[in-house]
Amino acid sequence: MRDKLLLQLSTFSQEHLLAFWDNLSDVQQANLTAQIQEIDFPEMEAMFEQSRAQENLKKLAQRAMPPLAVRLDSNDPPYTSEQAYPLGEQALAEGKVGVALVAGGQGSRLGFDHPKGMYPIGPISNASLFEILFSKIQATGMSSGTAIPIYLMTSPATHEETVDYLKTNRWFGLAEEDVVVFCQGTLPAVDATTGKLLLSDHDSLFLSPDGHGGMLAALDRSGALGDMQQRGVEHLFYFQVDNPIATVCDTHMIGCHILANSEYTLQVISKQDPEERVGNVVQIDGVTRIIEYSDLPADIAKVRNSDGSLKFWAGSIAVHVLDVEFLSRMAKLHNALPIHCARKKVPFVDLAGDPIDPTEPNAIKYERFIFDLLPHAKCSLSVEVDPAVAFAPLKNASGATADTVEHVHHQMMELHRSMLRKAGVQVEDGCRVEISPLFAMTVDQLREKITPDTSIVEETYFR
Ligand code: UTP
Repeated sequence: MRDKLLLQLSTFSQEHLLAFWDNLSDVQQANLTAQIQEIDFPEMEAMFEQSRAQENLKKLAQRAMPPLAVRLDSNDPPYTSEQAYPLGEQALAEGKVGVALVAGGQGSRLGFDHPKGMYPIGPISNASLFEILFSKIQATGMSSGTAIPIYLMTSPATHEETVDYLKTNRWFGLAEEDVVVFCQGTLPAVDATTGKLLLSDHDSLFLSPDGHGGMLAALDRSGALGDMQQRGVEHLFYFQVDNPIATVCDTHMIGCHILANSEYTLQVISKQDPEERVGNVVQIDGVTRIIEYSDLPADIAKVRNSDGSLKFWAGSIAVHVLDVEFLSRMAKLHNALPIHCARKKVPFVDLAGDPIDPTEPNAIKYERFIFDLLPHAKCSLSVEVDPAVAFAPLKNASGATADTVEHVHHQMMELHRSMLRKAGVQVEDGCRVEISPLFAMTVDQLREKITPDTSIVEETYFR
């Protein structure tokens, strides 16, 4: 086997992967062989070449325009709520909506020792991200009179623990057959100067999840796309595991998506600061796409309209509605999603067999992003939402300036206090409150459950 592998690897100057072969046990040799056989070496070479010649987004950005959008404050929106809601409700009731939740990331910034979805984020309940998000799906299913299937993406880094956790918690009230868990793929990291694949140990390549864009191939490979088609799911509501206030299965957004005949609809917020760390949704030469905050030149990001608002106002919060038909068309295309390269610090084992923990970025990690499907969509749309009611991402460990557990708690309780007040309840400022999605998801549902003049003066969890 060694000689056969060596021959294959030498064609691509990757023979160093066998440097410790003779000292490996049979099992270790088998593991390493299996990992090597999974690698598409010609593609790895092409990716490394591409990392040296990234598309010049900065130049493209010069021709950017704001996207077609349903704004919150528009006097003349392309689609009104009165038009959109009934269509969204109907699609949900007819079982045409499924949910895609991506939870394969390694959550390295948060520094939590388990899959991020297990993080106990409920400010009073300590409910995990998974529990809150699954409860939202359950509650939406109950109010629309239909079960909503969830397609949950894990990665080799999160799969086993996630499945065990969900099983132990009985899928948080969803029927087991409505929870389809599928695992994304991985990609190797390479040395940034030579393109040689890095070893994480004597018998193992350094592999990491292939980005949320890995969802496209993984949905196809796992049969999940086929499952959607079989169930008659036409629209897939996509969101990320780190946002506990995501407006899961947003009826208005789904309705707008249908009205616009959109294949890819994005939920966006109005950026307040040119440098806000969200992807910028723009149109370039009539094609909608996302330019990441790091790629939008500062002078373009700062351009303002005559009323002082930002010209490039639309920030993506990674909540999308994607047509299943569109996804299956894309899955058949070879390379629908380009590769993104990022220079990172990657610990590895050197040729002497010693572990190296670099202090500077030494490697290139590759990822695919789901939003790169946008330019392929025949029609796309952005729908604005108020970040106060829809976006509280948990990204960083305590102490960071944004997106920490403290920020998320604060925002969740602000939102829940405001919902209670709208329902006629008196809540003292700063009073700690939390509402379970199974108690109420909307102000109208709250009104049905609480007598209007109730006064809340102490910590209360509504469940
Ligand atoms: P992020 O890009 O914020 O990454 O993922 P992360 O893994 O959660 O955190 P860091 O960057 O390591 O600190 C946004 C969403 O995309 C999912 C994540 O699970 C999260 O829901 N994701 C990311 C995947 O499912 N797979 C990936 O390969 C990457």
